[in-house]
Amino acid sequence: METLILSTSEEDIEKAAEILRRGGLVAFPTETVYGLGANALDPDAVKRVYLAKGRPSDNPMIVHIGEKDGLRELTDLMTRDMELLMDAVWPGPMTMVVPAKDIVPRVTTGGLDTVAVRMPSDETARQLIIQSGVPVAAPSANLSGHPSPTTYRHCIDDLMGRVDAIICGKDCQVGIESTVIDMTGGDDCPPVILRPGIVTAERISRILGKEVFLDPSLLKKPEMDPATGNPVTGQDFRPKSPGMKYKHYAPQAEMTIFRGPREAVLRAIGRRRDELEAQGRKVAVITYSDSEQEVAAREFFARLRQCDKDGTDVILASALKEEGVGFSVMNRMFKSAGYNIEDVTEEKKMLIAIASDHGGFGLKESIKAYFGEKHPEIEMKDLGTFNEESVDYPLYGKLCGETVASGAADLGIVCCGTGIGISIAANKVKGVRCALVTSVEMAHLAKEHNNANVLALGGRTTEPEAAFSMIEEWLTTEFAGGRHKRRTDLLDDM
Ligand code: TXA
Ligand code: MG
Repeated sequence: METLILSTSEEDIEKAAEILRRGGLVAFPTETVYGLGANALDPDAVKRVYLAKGRPSDNPMIVHIGEKDGLRELTDLMTRDMELLMDAVWPGPMTMVVPAKDIVPRVTTGGLDTVAVRMPSDETARQLIIQSGVPVAAPSANLSGHPSPTTYRHCIDDLMGRVDAIICGKDCQVGIESTVIDMTGGDDCPPVILRPGIVTAERISRILGKEVFLDPSLLKKPEMDPATGNPVTGQDFRPKSPGMKYKHYAPQAEMTIFRGPREAVLRAIGRRRDELEAQGRKVAVITYSDSEQEVAAREFFARLRQCDKDGTDVILASALKEEGVGFSVMNRMFKSAGYNIEDVTEEKKMLIAIASDHGGFGLKESIKAYFGEKHPEIEMKDLGTFNEESVDYPLYGKLCGETVASGAADLGIVCCGTGIGISIAANKVKGVRCALVTSVEMAHLAKEHNNANVLALGGRTTEPEAAFSMIEEWLTTEFAGGRHKRRTDLLDDM
């Protein structure tokens, strides 16, 4: 099939309207995502939409109208809540599910006796619908399973040769599909959100002055069927909106969502990216802060499509707070990732206890300053002494040793004039392996051979710069294990 590429000129919109009247298919812009339109009252035209998209035929279409009056043509129901919502949100990114009149073909409603109706705000969309003179059934203009299209280029990528025309309009401002609300319960029942969007439950609730329910399936993370990539439906997951049963928005890359405290999430993503890149895999990172919910909504699908274009192997994304628009974005993001979520918890910082007598006081202070600047990820616990007045080194060596042996600190550093006395004191504590070192090589071996958990340094015998290098060596060297382990076990038993 030859696909006409059209502009948003009046002349081209008239051409597109004529195609719709003849039963053809036209991709067109809306404020949410691009739609693939057909005459909603023409069953053959609607069947062609299912075919062009490769969409399961039980997944109903949203019927788009150009004026609010158009609703009366499709349903007999008109409630106070419907009127309030229409007045407040239409034209705009909200769809109402209502009982369908008989003139709505059941192929349009996926066999249901209800119909989903929306009046878009995009000017081109409205002109097209009004000019065509028919209600326009339009799912998102993507191949089934692909991310929804938010620019005309996305429609060209998916539908060239499969539809009669594509209107090249503006990029979509909302970026995620409309909020779908079940209004069939009437004024006595709370409306139920079947698909969250930019018009949030909180906003609808404010407009109606009453509670709004969420379809329970929106709060579930279903099991995924590995064979089809679709969620497993059944007792646990039974969405009212048929579209929610199918694999959605899937990029070609594997995708993982990291969820948890922001800093920890960003660090986890950074580490994973480094690991994957070291294996030669192409990685893309998608992160938004919670103050960028609308931006995330606008860009998310386009980012997924760009990843596909770039040949990305793995997408690492951070979760938004599931509140307001963030809830709607996460509804899409979870599906894109096939619910592949990693929960990240706040990392415990490594804690090093440090102690000295008056002779090691200066070096202790230098080491603390060095860690503050170079290792913000490590916490230092200063056990004293806190000035240069004369004190007894055994007390400080013992205190540091006990802090490490009890597990209150991961490692320890002790300083006195030579490091000798305080190391002897620390080693009196069971479980402590304190090593006095005066060179980087000794620091290396202190870890590799002896797995020293406390390092002793001399304030009068070692310059601060040299001490820093020894500490770095000790921290970064791995314990060799093997026969060395057998010997450190013997030490621990003494
Ligand atoms: O923003 C949008 O709504 C876009 C633009 C083009 O307007 N359209 C769109 O359509 O997203 P589509 O087909 O991709 O998604 C329609 C959703 C599906 O989840 C479908 O199951 C649900 O609406 N739906 C349609 N009719 C329904 C009905 N009668 N009862 C329950 N859910 C219905
Ligand atoms: Mg869709």
